[in-house]
Amino acid sequence: MSVFDFRAFLDDLDNRGELFRVPVEVDTLDEMGAFIARADYEDIHDPILFENPKGFDIPVIANTVGHTYKRMADAFGVEESNALPGSAMKMMQVLKEGGVPPVYVDPKQAACKQVIMQGDDVDLSILPALRLNPQDGQGTPDLAEGRYFTSLCVTKPTETSHNLSYHRFEITGKNTGTAWIFRGTGDAFSMEKFWGSKIDAPSSSWDHENARPFPMAFVFGVTPEFILAGANSALPHEGDDFAFIGGLRNAPVEMVKCETIDVDVPANAEIVVEGEFRPFNWATQGQFASFNGFYDKPRRRPVFNVTAITMRKKPIFQHVHIGRPLNECNSIAAFFRSVRTFVQVKEIMPNVVDVFVDPIAGCGFTVQVSIKKARIGEPKMAMMRAYTALAGFCKHVFVYDDDINIRDHKERDWALAHRFIPDRDLMIIPNVMGMNIEPMAQGVLGSNGKLGVYDGYPEIPLNVRSFMGVDCTVPLKLKVMDRVVPIPEIESRVDQLWNQVVR
Ligand SMILES: Cc1cc2nc3c(=O)[nH]c(=O)nc-3n(C[C@H](O)[C@H](O)[C@H](O)COP(=O)(O)O)c2cc1C
Repeated sequence: MSVFDFRAFLDDLDNRGELFRVPVEVDTLDEMGAFIARADYEDIHDPILFENPKGFDIPVIANTVGHTYKRMADAFGVEESNALPGSAMKMMQVLKEGGVPPVYVDPKQAACKQVIMQGDDVDLSILPALRLNPQDGQGTPDLAEGRYFTSLCVTKPTETSHNLSYHRFEITGKNTGTAWIFRGTGDAFSMEKFWGSKIDAPSSSWDHENARPFPMAFVFGVTPEFILAGANSALPHEGDDFAFIGGLRNAPVEMVKCETIDVDVPANAEIVVEGEFRPFNWATQGQFASFNGFYDKPRRRPVFNVTAITMRKKPIFQHVHIGRPLNECNSIAAFFRSVRTFVQVKEIMPNVVDVFVDPIAGCGFTVQVSIKKARIGEPKMAMMRAYTALAGFCKHVFVYDDDINIRDHKERDWALAHRFIPDRDLMIIPNVMGMNIEPMAQGVLGSNGKLGVYDGYPEIPLNVRSFMGVDCTVPLKLKVMDRVVPIPEIESRVDQLWNQVVR
């Protein structure tokens, strides 16, 4: 059996008592999303299996990866206590060695093809896609129900490569939807190549003669390795993400070709939605609750035409939760932004010790870095590298000495209070690039044409803002009072006492 078998993964969780089964009926409209949010806020980290979604035959699994480093570290084959930098190092090693190429299985053996629906049989309404909040989808003309899915997207940038990603999909009809493909992602580059136009460009740029439909498969029911590879924007766009996944486990991913498009998918997936973005076809998508805890406003998104749905006979629908932080999307994205930032800072500063992107703090907007400071000016270098590592996502960087556990806010606050002096240690850079879905940056400065970043599409909100770096490290060679720190031998004696009194 493949090491990437999703059913075996679930059985394993179940056997270890780590699957949170919900046997009662739960409505996929609003109720299920609120239930997942409740579990997230109650610090329940086990994947949740909704066995009885109201009105659907298909169970729903949420939080496959969840919030802790446990399943992230497992997927990378490193110890949980060393999830970072262990995963960063493993990623670099697998990329360097090229991974393990996928293998193709006979479609008759592929679990994801036990049921095949094409043509008029295609019907997205059989899928228990969630409406996370009553307000979702309210700006969509001819609103269906505001149901979205967040599933693994597979594309083929070249004949020999596969790109994995996530693009939220709003169901707008039996065989149609809209998907949000961020500018700057691998799929946006591919789509621009297929369409021969900018992804959000005005009609003057359309190349009708050479434009081709851009195929994509949405895949449900995969193990954490796939989800993490999909969320990982540090994987090279024209590499083979399936080979990378194979390299993590030293075993090939078993693949099968799609029925109606030139894309390949994991053979034992639960459900596959195949289709294409036909050139120059946009529709309004939204609004919906985004990763940052704000409702993102309705925007123009490419239309997706479903050409087939294939699945197991009794499939499970996989949902990656998004919306009011804290949610699984935040945790996954924060993990990868930590990995990416660590790798990039380490390139110029081998003395970086740790990077922590707190999922609750915009999963990348605020980045904490610790270094073993050796030279004056290094904290500022770390700040700037961390900012650029996240390609405009990052807004604040805090740099600490290596005696500060940057994962503990009490330690961070202590250093901020005692080691940071504003006029000496604060760095603010005005007018840097930010994220276009940051509410505070939108339109603040008026037309961004004046700043020389106008990109031809007037409705894209302004995403220019300032960046702040806060240096919480001790000035080198400055003799300050000694810090009171725990003494390991005494701590272990206290541990023993503690175990006797606290059960
Ligand atoms: C749960 C989740 C939802 C996401 N939603 C979107 C989305 O709607 N659109 C998008 O372009 N990126 C989204 N992302 C981020 C992309 O998946 C991520 O940037 C991706 O790694 C891009 O990779 P690529 O550049 O290799 O294609 C999401 C990520 C996660 C984890």
